[in-house]
Amino acid sequence: MTAITIQSVPLAAKALRKGELVAIPTETVYGLGANALNQSAVANIFAAKNRPSFDPLIIHQSSADRILAYAREIPPEARLLADAIWPGPLTLVLPKQESVPDLVSAGLSTVALRVPNHPLTLELLEAVDFPVAAPSANPFGFVSPTTAQHVKDQLGDKIDYILDGGACRVGLESTIVGFPNGVATVLRKGGLAVEKIEEILGHSVEVKTHSNSRPEAPGMLSRHYSPGVAMLIVEESASLPAYPAGSAAIIFGKDNKLVAGDSELNVFNLSPSGDLNEAARTLFAVLRTISQGNYPLVMAFSVPEEGLGLAINDRLRRAAARE
Ligand code: TXA
Ligand code: MG
Repeated sequence: MTAITIQSVPLAAKALRKGELVAIPTETVYGLGANALNQSAVANIFAAKNRPSFDPLIIHQSSADRILAYAREIPPEARLLADAIWPGPLTLVLPKQESVPDLVSAGLSTVALRVPNHPLTLELLEAVDFPVAAPSANPFGFVSPTTAQHVKDQLGDKIDYILDGGACRVGLESTIVGFPNGVATVLRKGGLAVEKIEEILGHSVEVKTHSNSRPEAPGMLSRHYSPGVAMLIVEESASLPAYPAGSAAIIFGKDNKLVAGDSELNVFNLSPSGDLNEAARTLFAVLRTISQGNYPLVMAFSVPEEGLGLAINDRLRRAAARE
């Protein structure tokens, strides 16, 4: 099979109705979509990604009302966040309705729900009468795709269509919020800043994004976003270790004296102007480029730990993790 890149929403909708796999653009990253209520279509998602079936999927629809219909209970704070952010880079984990297949939720009693903010995908979701399950459209453990070409490069022989909606505006996956014991808790840092969530709720929230073998969001294993080369993190103000010639450095902002003028080093700047939103948008493309070079070592400077910086540092640390 070779994926066909399309821009036609009716064609994408028709494919989804037939149980086929369609990669869809969102504001965060591209998703690998299928009819969430069709078990065999969902099974094909896991097969195409080579993803373990204990890792549950996010389901998507075009409005808060349409997606929240798959939740059995909606805490008031979940409703508050949904109204303020959707369509947008937020996923809510809530108790699930029976109609959601166990394969989607990996047997959990909760389900992850999201209204993505992309005009083509909103139109597509509007056109179908089921929710669309969509993990990031990358092979399990690899960097998430932020363009249609990224999807084609990595999954082109495993899916039917790629709906091309251009480059993703946010560039990091959605922030996941659950309500264990009724308490709003961030389960994955992502494209919606934690500060924004706290502003909407009017109080601070717990952040519980474990990176061990039993993470809160089961897909958040410490080794993820793998660029396939040796990578280490340099804390913001620390100095560079000794490195082999031809190494690479990932930096942020304009004044990085440590790498300036070193012709032995291949420097990738996430945002020369020091803009965390721009850094979020370029991060995965940089990791992807790096994975294609043969650098003996990649040194990544952490970015300021605020706003989208939390999620950027999280992805860098996971990309550098050894296990
Ligand atoms: O931005 C995004 O969220 C993208 C776009 C396509 O919407 N999707 C995405 O999906 O990042 P995926 O499958 O790559 O990541 C979903 C994460 C996984 O870490 C999974 O473990 C977690 O959501 N998750 C799903 N259902 C859950 C649940 N019931 N409880 C806790 N975590 C859950
Ligand atoms: Mg993913």
